[in-house]
Amino acid sequence: MSIPPNPNPNPNPEQLAAEQLAAAFETTFGDRPEGIWAAPGRVNLIGEHTDYNDGFVLPFAIDRTAMVAIRRRSGNTARLISSYGQPELVSVDLGTLSAGTMNGWTAYPLGVVWVLRQMGIETGGFDLYLHSTVPSGAGLSSSAAIECAVATAFNELGAGGLSLNELVLVGQRAENEVVGAPTGILDQSASLLSTAGHAVFLDCREQSSKLVPLDLAANGLLILVIDTKVTHAHATGGYAARRASCELGAEVLGVAALRDVAASELNEAAGLLDPETFRRVRHIVSENQRVLDTVALLDDAGPGAIGELLTASHASMRDDFEISCPELDLAVETALNHGALGARMTGGGFGGSAIALIPAAAEAGVRAAVESSFAGAGFTAPDIFTVSPAAGAHRVP
Ligand code: GLA
Repeated sequence: MSIPPNPNPNPNPEQLAAEQLAAAFETTFGDRPEGIWAAPGRVNLIGEHTDYNDGFVLPFAIDRTAMVAIRRRSGNTARLISSYGQPELVSVDLGTLSAGTMNGWTAYPLGVVWVLRQMGIETGGFDLYLHSTVPSGAGLSSSAAIECAVATAFNELGAGGLSLNELVLVGQRAENEVVGAPTGILDQSASLLSTAGHAVFLDCREQSSKLVPLDLAANGLLILVIDTKVTHAHATGGYAARRASCELGAEVLGVAALRDVAASELNEAAGLLDPETFRRVRHIVSENQRVLDTVALLDDAGPGAIGELLTASHASMRDDFEISCPELDLAVETALNHGALGARMTGGGFGGSAIALIPAAAEAGVRAAVESSFAGAGFTAPDIFTVSPAAGAHRVP
């Protein structure tokens, strides 16, 4: 008797996770899924709060994804379950979906389905099993990862024929109108447009993008994420207030968006704006320039040259935009004192994660120093891990 060859002798971690997800799906729903789609979370290398100001951002997708297994079913009922926590099956009549009534994690997949319906695109009934390795509340776009996985899945299952840029807007609309967070296009663009080994340079006014090589390993570098465990929600509080300040600044300065204010016009702007609005405006104007400078430096000199820009971005968010917190500041300061070339908070702020660009040889030292500084300050222990620029949303083969 001969043993048949293993059809897949070296499955990669994603395929292994997908096989486990397919098995869990079958146990729950009694059938194999039609397919499995994965979409990544993101780290924003630089360009914070610039997206809704029509400005520039430079994120990259990380090697942590939301994975959805889906099978369409007859009728108009969706059944959804997530591996997170205590799995609980949620059953929803899609005919009753309305923007104001969704909550919990199902608001992300169902929000996308609702947006598609608003666009006249029907998904029909379906079963969905979610498994995500993007930590939630860490500022790494766990919600956009779910939205983008679901949008990509239904688009491929024949519901839409939408372009990647259109899928970005579907995810953003779900976030804005269903979840209630007035966010821009940064997160969904990173999750959908990324390619391994690159960052995505995005002009948010034009919705045009360019891939910028970000080969950390070849330069002996890595990026550490320091998740402070301070959770935040952009549907409430500070995020919307910052957005309102930016809109006020643009209105007083008579421009369509803060993208249109040049650094050389800041002196004049200082005389027209109240001091707080001026600081908010100065962050956006200077941050846009830092994104352009970072892209130029990556092209000319590689990632080892961008550290100071990252650190300057953090100072601007701490002092001018005021969206940092003591834990993020301590993470950044400690990393810089122990060999980081640059460090900054990433994402919307008020908690979440910092990133540190470090020589690979400094990793153990930075980790130990951040852990002990957090313990010394009486802060919750952070979660520290490396990320590498990964592929955007895709079907798992
Ligand atoms: C959150 C939002 C994004 C962006 C960032 C800040 O991640 O979802 O649209 O505004 O904050 O840069």
